[in-house]
Amino acid sequence: MQTCRTIEEIRSVVKSLKMAGKKIAFIPTMGALHEGHLSLIREAHQHGDAVLVSIFVNPEQFGPNEDYDTYPREFEQDLEKCRDAGVKAVFAPGPEELYSDKKYLKIDISDLNRHMCGGSRPGFFEGILLVVNKLFNIIEPDVALFGQKDIQQFQIIRRLAEEFNHGTELVMVPISRANDGLALSSRNAYLSSEERKTAPGLYRSLQYIEKQVNGGVDTPSLLINHQKSELEAKGFKIDYLNTFSLKTLQPVKTLESGETYILAGAVWLGKTRLIDNILIEF
Ligand code: PAJ
Repeated sequence: MQTCRTIEEIRSVVKSLKMAGKKIAFIPTMGALHEGHLSLIREAHQHGDAVLVSIFVNPEQFGPNEDYDTYPREFEQDLEKCRDAGVKAVFAPGPEELYSDKKYLKIDISDLNRHMCGGSRPGFFEGILLVVNKLFNIIEPDVALFGQKDIQQFQIIRRLAEEFNHGTELVMVPISRANDGLALSSRNAYLSSEERKTAPGLYRSLQYIEKQVNGGVDTPSLLINHQKSELEAKGFKIDYLNTFSLKTLQPVKTLESGETYILAGAVWLGKTRLIDNILIEF
């Protein structure tokens, strides 16, 4: 496995892979790799001949009061995991390699980041698009894989690939969960042992709402409000919990048959922000 620190190095790896006719499957990450990331790597082997992973804690997608400085960094273990998972090359640039100059341009997102995480984290998806656009330009992958856990990210990056003609096929991989249902996340490391016991409550609430909706409830707002109160009683602070259109990412009050919805929540447990979602075909 090759570890590349510079754009030049990774470009030369990509060039020789492409010259050898290899199809490149790419997974962007911020490191602190867990089973969720590894499930993306396993899936990537089904889509390409050479799997490339980037590890880069992207400063542009953290707000001024967010956890950029404390975000878990476990570079040596990450490399080990990638090696074991059959990754061909890891691209791990420093911030100065990707952001060496003053920026005069940015990508504006309309509508798709008004709600969900985009609504509560200003600049978040602009920062993600900035880095993913760079990474796609540097690596020019045939396929790129992202997790359903960050479904709004997936939908916005899908638009990026389409509208900017990246020619990269996007694959969404289902959420990997701990045995008790908690969606795996690098940020779960922030949870105290008490909080870790409470944390699966978010997924349980989503499952409860899903069950009612699958049973025919087409206007779930009362149900959702009730689950919000239940979660608050358990010590969660609610950022959002709602049903959203998969296509437009706007909140939806009345579900219509034949449509796909995202039942999604973001909550705080102490200092940790947790997100989770379930896709619902109504
Ligand atoms: P990161 O949080 O490291 O996640 C990298 C990829 O792993 C994302 O596509 C994410 O959705 C996926 N992932 C994380 N937890 C998962 C889980 N439990 N099950 C399935 N997939 C999971 O997302 C980012 O990094 C960044 O925003 C990035 C795209 C790299 C841009 O900086």
